[in-house]
Parts: sequence; C-alpha cells; structure tokens
Amino acid sequence: MVSRSVHAIAALLLVSCSTAAPPSRDPFGPSLESARQNAPQIFNAIHNAMRQFGSSLHHNGMSFFPATIPAGTMLYHGATTPKIPDTLEWLAFEVEHAENFARGYRRPNQTRGFAQSQENGQRPLQNWAHSEKEEYVTFRSSSMAHVFDDGWHGNEPAWEPGYFHIYQAVRPLNVLYLDGMAAGKTNMGTNDAEDFILSSNKSRGGYEDYIRAADLCTWSKQWGVDGLIRMEPGFEVIYCDFHDGGLLQVAANRRGPIDGSKEYLIFKMFEWIQAASKRYRGIGGNRVQVDYSSMVSAFFYPVNLTNPNATRSEHPRLVFATESELAAIKGHVERTVIRSWEGVKSTVDWQGVTDMIVTRYSDRLSLMAATKSIKDMKLLLSHLLDGYIHRQDDGFDLHAAQQRCRRHYLDGFAPVTPEDNLMHAGIDSTAKLICETLFEAHALVVENPSADESSVQTAVRMAQDLMDTLRWPEWKLCGACQVDEVCFVAMWPFGNVEDHYSPSCQNATTAFARNSYWRYNW
Ligand SMILES: *[C@@H]1O[C@H](CO)[C@@H](O)[C@H](O)[C@H]1NC(C)=O
Ligand SMILES: *[C@@H]1O[C@H](CO)[C@@H](O)[C@H](O)[C@H]1NC(C)=O
Ligand SMILES: *[C@@H]1O[C@H](CO)[C@@H](O)[C@H](O)[C@H]1NC(C)=O
Ligand SMILES: *[C@@H]1O[C@H](CO)[C@@H](O)[C@H](O)[C@H]1NC(C)=O
Ligand SMILES: *[C@@H]1O[C@H](CO)[C@@H](O)[C@H](O)[C@H]1NC(C)=O
Repeated sequence: MVSRSVHAIAALLLVSCSTAAPPSRDPFGPSLESARQNAPQIFNAIHNAMRQFGSSLHHNGMSFFPATIPAGTMLYHGATTPKIPDTLEWLAFEVEHAENFARGYRRPNQTRGFAQSQENGQRPLQNWAHSEKEEYVTFRSSSMAHVFDDGWHGNEPAWEPGYFHIYQAVRPLNVLYLDGMAAGKTNMGTNDAEDFILSSNKSRGGYEDYIRAADLCTWSKQWGVDGLIRMEPGFEVIYCDFHDGGLLQVAANRRGPIDGSKEYLIFKMFEWIQAASKRYRGIGGNRVQVDYSSMVSAFFYPVNLTNPNATRSEHPRLVFATESELAAIKGHVERTVIRSWEGVKSTVDWQGVTDMIVTRYSDRLSLMAATKSIKDMKLLLSHLLDGYIHRQDDGFDLHAAQQRCRRHYLDGFAPVTPEDNLMHAGIDSTAKLICETLFEAHALVVENPSADESSVQTAVRMAQDLMDTLRWPEWKLCGACQVDEVCFVAMWPFGNVEDHYSPSCQNATTAFARNSYWRYNW
C-alpha cells in the first residue's frame, strides 16, 4: 500500500462525500451532462463488467474499475520453467487459458525459443531487434493459419514441454480492471484506454504488450495496485511482483512431451474458448469484487470518442482526445483507486440494477420488434406498463406513470461517491429512454381508439430503434448449443466478422477456420 499524506486522504474524503458531480474549475471534467449523453454506453459498461460475452461485443473498453481478488482465489500460469517469475507475468482465471501457455516452441533451426509463456517470449520485448519482433509476430499469426489451413509445410516448430503453475491469493489483491477486450492486441482501439490514458502513449503497437504491461506496472506501484485485470478469451491478471507477498505458489506441474499435432492444438485451443464461454455471464465464484462506486470512464467526460474508421462508429476510440484530456482522466483514476483502497465506497450493486432492467425488457423488446398483430401488441405493451399506471375514470397521468417506470429499478439506491452519481445518471437516462419509448408506443397502440396496422408497424420500428441504441449483448446470444459447441463470439485473436455481428454455435472444426475479424498492427 502506498503511503500518502493525511491531507490527501482528507481531500479525497471530501470529494467522495459530496453528492454532486465532482467539482471542477477546469471546464474539462466529468459531468452529469456527459454521463447522460453517453447513457447507453455507461449502462453497457456496468452491465458487461467482468462478463466475457458483452465485453467481447463492446471490445473497446473506455472504463476503469478498482476491484479486489479475495484471499483464497486460485490463479493459473503457463511457463517454460517452474520458477516463480522474477518479473511481471500473466495469470489466468481459467485452467484452460494457462494450459495454452504451458509449452514453448521455436522454429526448427533456431536456438532462440519463442516461449509461449508470455506473448513476447522469454526476453522482454524491448530487448528484441525490430526484425525479431516482426518475425515473431509473423510466425505466431502464420502458425495459426498453418495449423488450421494447410499444415506447416515442413516448418513445424520444435515443441518444448512446459510447466503449469497454480497460485493462490493469500491476501486480498488490489487490482484495476480495464474493461472491454483490453488484452486483445489490435489496432482497432482495444488498447486505447490503457495506452492513451494510463501510459500517455498514443503510438504503441498492439503487440508491444510487454512494454505496455511494464508501463502499467510502473504506474500501478505508485497507486497501491497489485495488478491489472484484462480480458482476451478468458480474463487475466498482469501481476506486477510475484514476490510481493500476495501470492502463494501452490504447484508448478511439469507437462510431458508435447504432441504438436493439429488435433492436439485445436483441442487445446477449443478448450480455451470453451472455458472462456463459461464466463460469458460473469467470472463466477466471487473471484473478483468490483467496486462499481469507483468506476472511472471516458464516457463521463465531454471527450471526442469518434472512431476515425467510419464503418466502426459504434466502437469508441480516443484518438481525437487531447493530451490534457487524457491526463485529466488518468488523474481521476488515480484518485478513485486510492479512495477505493481506503474503503470509501457505496454498497450499491449497480450491475445488479442494470441486470434487473435488462431482464425485464430485453426479451420483451425483441418480441415487440417481431409483433405483427394489433391484439398481440396491445397485450404486450399493457403488460409491460400497467404496473406503472394508476388509472382514473378519465385516463391516467402520463407524466407520473413515465416517472414511475423510469425510477422503478433505481428507487432506494442512494449514490455515495461522485462516480455513483455519474453511473446513476447513465442508468437513469437509459431507463428514461426505454420508458418514454414504450409509453409512446402505448399511446399509439393501446390508448388510441383508431389504432391500426400502421400503428403496429410504427411501434415495431420504435422497438427496433431502441434496441439499436441500447445494444445489449442479450440480443446476440445463441440459445443452447450442443456440448461440443460454443456460442462463438469473436474473441481476439479468434473469430470471423460474422462471429462479431451474429454469434452462432460452432464446434472445434468450424470455429478456427476463421480469423479475420481482428486486425493487428505494430
Ligand atoms: C534446418 O537445418 C537442416 C540442416 O542444416 C536443413 O536441412 C533444413 O532445411 C533446415 N530447415 C529449415 C526449415 O530451415
Ligand atoms: C510509446 O511506446 C513505444 C513502445 O511501445 C515507445 O517506443 C514510444 O517511445 C512511446 N512513446 C512515448 C511518447 O512515450
Ligand atoms: C471529433 O474529432 C474529429 C476530428 O477532429 C471531428 O471530425 C469530429 O467532428 C469530432 N466529433 C465531435 C463529436 O466533436
Ligand atoms: C475500417 O474497418 C473495416 C471493417 O469494418 C475494415 O475493413 C477497414 O480496413 C478499416 N479501415 C481502415 C482505414 O482501417
Ligand atoms: C462441426 O460442424 C460441422 C458443420 O456443422 C460438421 O461437418 C463437423 O463434422 C463438425 N465437427 C465436429 C468435430 O463435430
């Protein structure tokens, strides 16, 4: 834990106890207005936090959440040696994820190994010549194509058996969760928040992950952060110092000789995808306790989140944010992280609030968007809204009913921190949008004596537009798949374009013949 002055703590407590949005003399600051403007995005960030499926769809994370990994939690690591790492290293929450790194490989005639224990080999990437890096990345990406396409062409790697490490948290670990697919090494914006905000670096290549992690750890040490949670297929922790007393090495199990066959590699990778898919709806086992009341998001700020690639406008980017704007958000993360470790937090389960709203409306909106008859539409809308309506002989008070609808799932939750207020604004504005749309349709179809087919069609369009705005992941789930299949959403580095836009059940054979959604740079 970092030391800090009593003054600093007092200042933090003062800020945290005010009920208004954080005061700022600087015109650039977090505001309720920005939170309302980005309401559906804030709603989704809260709803998808630590959930593999929604975070894969909304892969450009713009938010930071202080979190705790409780003592007793098991974490996994694959390496080419049994040694407890002396440098930062990656830990996985799933056995299958780490198993894929418990082996090494190198090209047949090379002595330098491309160890798979980390993305960048045994040596920190900054020590590699550019040509080596290029070769490594080409090798890694082409190796996948070779496995799944037409073989290795006599250029099989030499496999080395590795070690499967098991660690256990021996105290609560203070971590910072970076949302979206922040471990996806791409040029699509998956790394914007960590690179541009936390590292103040706008020119890093996606694959420079060791430098990225080293930077994040240098920053982390100043703020009492033990590690950073990110997501690829599976959640991981960049753990900064294995000798900091937070982890016990429970085992380092040696693996036997590697069967480098196509079948073996596909099996291992598909099991990794399977394991990740078990976390579509949450990490499970209470393994990560997110402090929602300390969420910091670019969505709270009046920052330009335009994606320079116009075809990807639904994915926010930070390329147009200025240095001082990025620095302001970073400062905000630093203040809330410290405050969270101090124990200043609300007990409001904001994700639970979003879940209540999503479970009430997601299927009903799908149904509404597919409703054909006026009778069915009347039944559905009445059912959805009657609970908020107090009927008099001459109708009902529309405004009061809308307010009841909007406040229903937020009533009784009192924001404590300034960030609670910003999240509240995001959820409230989302609820307002839903309720206003539904009441508008209700007026058109239920309350309107001359409602006809075209009123139904208008209501259908309203439901479709609302769904386009809300973009809840529930609308992309596949339904039940066979036991040897997964509902396959594109998860870096796997997945085709169609797997991003409309995930479907895929098996080990069909899942991997498709690598084209993600784009890399470096
Ligand atoms: C590896 O070295 C052997 C012997 O020097 C050579 O015959 C073989 O072609 C080399 N393989 C590759 C892939 O370069
Ligand atoms: C950004 O990071 C890259 C390495 O990832 C480094 O080469 C470059 O100098 C950094 N730029 C700044 C402005 O720090
Ligand atoms: C964001 O910045 C780009 C590039 O300067 C500009 O074209 C765009 O209009 C800006 N968007 C907003 C919402 O300010
Ligand atoms: C923009 O995104 C599309 C995919 O949606 C991709 O095909 C295209 O190459 C991207 N353009 C640039 C300039 O990156
Ligand atoms: C996977 O699905 C494809 C197409 O549905 C099918 O042809 C193939 O046999 C399946 N493979 C396995 C391993 O089940």
